[in-house]
Amino acid sequence: MPHNSTSSPDRPERDGQGPLEERVIISLNHVNLSYPDQVALKDVNFQVANGEFLCLTGPSGAGKSSILRLISMDAFPTRGQVRVRGMLASSMNRRRIPQLRREIGFVFQDFRLLEDRSVYDNVAFAQLVIGVPGRQIAENVTRVLNKVGLWEKRHRKPCQLSGGEQQRVAVARAMVNSPKILLADEPTGNLDPVTAQEIIDLLFRFNDMGTCVIFSTHDHGIVKTFGRRVIVLENGAIVSDKLRDDQVDRTARLDDGMYRAESAGPRPQQVEVPSHA
Ligand SMILES: Nc1ncnc2c1ncn2[C@@H]1O[C@H](COP(=O)(O)OP(=O)(O)OP(=O)(O)O)[C@@H](O)[C@H]1O
Ligand SMILES: [Mg+2]
Repeated sequence: MPHNSTSSPDRPERDGQGPLEERVIISLNHVNLSYPDQVALKDVNFQVANGEFLCLTGPSGAGKSSILRLISMDAFPTRGQVRVRGMLASSMNRRRIPQLRREIGFVFQDFRLLEDRSVYDNVAFAQLVIGVPGRQIAENVTRVLNKVGLWEKRHRKPCQLSGGEQQRVAVARAMVNSPKILLADEPTGNLDPVTAQEIIDLLFRFNDMGTCVIFSTHDHGIVKTFGRRVIVLENGAIVSDKLRDDQVDRTARLDDGMYRAESAGPRPQQVEVPSHA
């Protein structure tokens, strides 16, 4: 299902100085990140507006995960400034980091689910650890599992799910605390193209509901079809930062072979989003 990137009235305007500046939620200013034997990021500068959908792409080792680690303050810049939701990494009291992370959801390539717990418990766990009361946990988990289309499979263990379903659980877990920011690091890396598109559609839906999403992938072909802002990294530096507009030909996804299965009819396992969501 093609996603209309301009349909949401909530989508922030990047054109025009005022709206973007007022809605900046993440900013990286002349950021360098060095490891003892490796420079991972060099003079990286960008801002992300509240509610934006940003794609980070570039080859393996380009620095995509490093940027996500800086945003979640799992890493700190060697030089420059990282500011997330008004919190400046350099002057951040480390005890406030858990508070910041509550406002950030994470999805990884390898799902990282608790294998010995059910779908329901995997999602509920994210609420338990931040002390949400029991009845509210039940409400929130029910809501988010319905959103990702997995309520019926809530009693299953991860090993009883397909890869795409496991990733949907991971998205539900990331979103159950209603974070302002969702960081998805190669979330489609282990999935076939059709299943990958389902996960991407799910991320678009959460973005339409106001979550700022940063999606990283080494697959430039996928992000070309999105019609969203794309930052391309090479060797730790930004080589382009473009907002692709709606003139992107979305039928291209049928031509490039990746999404040919879609032309055969509706996709299996279409994710259902209740209209009241
Ligand atoms: N903990 C670390 N110690 C030393 N070097 C590291 C560390 N983490 C990452 N690097 C290096 O930093 C560079 C950027 O790594 P990063 O993981 O950000 O790349 P990436 O774009 O996410 O790659 P991939 O697509 O393979 O996930 C790489 O050269 C990597 O080897
Ligand atoms: Mg990576």
